[in-house]
Amino acid sequence: MTRSDEDELLKRAADRFGTPCFVYFTQRIEQRISLLRTNFGPDLGLSYAVKANPNPALLEWLSGEVDHLDISSAGELRLAQEAGWDPALLSFTGPGKREAEIREAIRAGVGHLVIESLREARIADRIARQAARVQPVLVRISPESLPKGFGDQMAGKPTPFGIDMEVAHDAISIIQSLTGLSLAGFHIYAGTQCLKADVIAETYRHLLDIFARLCSAHDVKPAMLVMGSGLGVPYHQGETPVDLRFVSRMLNGELSTFRKEPRFTNAKIVLELGRYLVSQAGYFVTRVVSTKTSRGRRIAICDGGMNNHLPASGHFGMVMRRSYRMHSIGVRNGSADETEAVDVVGPLCTSIDRLASGVELPRLDEGDLIAVHNSGAYGLTASPVHFISHPMPEEVMVVADTLLRITRSFASGPARACDSEDAVRLVDGTHPAAANQNA
Ligand SMILES: Cc1ncc(COP(=O)(O)O)c(C=O)c1O
Repeated sequence: MTRSDEDELLKRAADRFGTPCFVYFTQRIEQRISLLRTNFGPDLGLSYAVKANPNPALLEWLSGEVDHLDISSAGELRLAQEAGWDPALLSFTGPGKREAEIREAIRAGVGHLVIESLREARIADRIARQAARVQPVLVRISPESLPKGFGDQMAGKPTPFGIDMEVAHDAISIIQSLTGLSLAGFHIYAGTQCLKADVIAETYRHLLDIFARLCSAHDVKPAMLVMGSGLGVPYHQGETPVDLRFVSRMLNGELSTFRKEPRFTNAKIVLELGRYLVSQAGYFVTRVVSTKTSRGRRIAICDGGMNNHLPASGHFGMVMRRSYRMHSIGVRNGSADETEAVDVVGPLCTSIDRLASGVELPRLDEGDLIAVHNSGAYGLTASPVHFISHPMPEEVMVVADTLLRITRSFASGPARACDSEDAVRLVDGTHPAAANQNA
């Protein structure tokens, strides 16, 4: 599909469903998956990290495309189930799992619970035994070091994620002694947003080495070994995509040697990825509400900003404070070559609601549409959507050239653990605690 085909569909989505909206092109996700499958073949399974974009329609679409989902909450578990995923194909990561979430996951039959601490192991063991089950678990390891240049990573630093490699042997022995759990393998989330093919290959080799050492030390014949992929996407001007062919050339020999060891012949090695699969499939489309020139600076004020797309405003983890790539859809004034520097801002009453500073775009006017690239991952889901109480942005999925409105109904989301009687009384202004105090 050409840029102008995409633009036509983006415009149709904006006109039909309104702005701001997120538009996801499934064809682009297919291209990513096929690139991964072509380069790694059956050697590496693919697991999609739901947190990157938990839209249920997207999860349903992905069910025929990737092998596993990684969830990080009971809410994501329910979304995956509603989307028709077999819980046996899910892994559940996250350092702050609540006991109720662990119980729900085990009862649902989640394939692998990813143990991030001995606290979780003990809770899961008790729940599994009460249910007369043995829950397969992966132990998440926080490595002591990783090759230099591997994106945003936390190796060797204090971290809430996983069990530090320095104390892992003792922890693994304890986990192996818990009869409600069976140790099915290991999980390492190495980092995120790496674009350097040589460093990625070196990192994967390093992870395989850690897996090999742990499995041999604890006599584990793993069913699954998960590598948090770190595969990045070019967000900003001047960045280039990861050369996957190079990664696979550097790695494929290593993988077949690894597999030759009898301990690993049946191990499923899985790449866990979010942004690499869906980021470039998505655009955030926002309409210019107003323009002005303030003290010599051209400013376009749009109907959606950081309230819908926090990462594009540069306030999300490792994404640097540089503008995402963006373009204006259709050129109404002059030619596309005649550009001017403009600040693209959102509707919030804060100066940090800025999607671009001094980006070169054709002269913008009220009503023009701007498409922010790389918005398929960590867009809506990572944004403070309630700030100034605008309606939720629409979400649209493009399958071939058909537009599907897939906006989530947040009203039907997971119920809060709150007593309904309490909630009613709070609305009345007579919370029981306050009533007791007054009594
Ligand atoms: C455990 C885990 N797996 C996978 C991911 C996905 O990372 P990315 O979107 O960079 O691929 C994350 C992101 O935070 C994560 O925490």
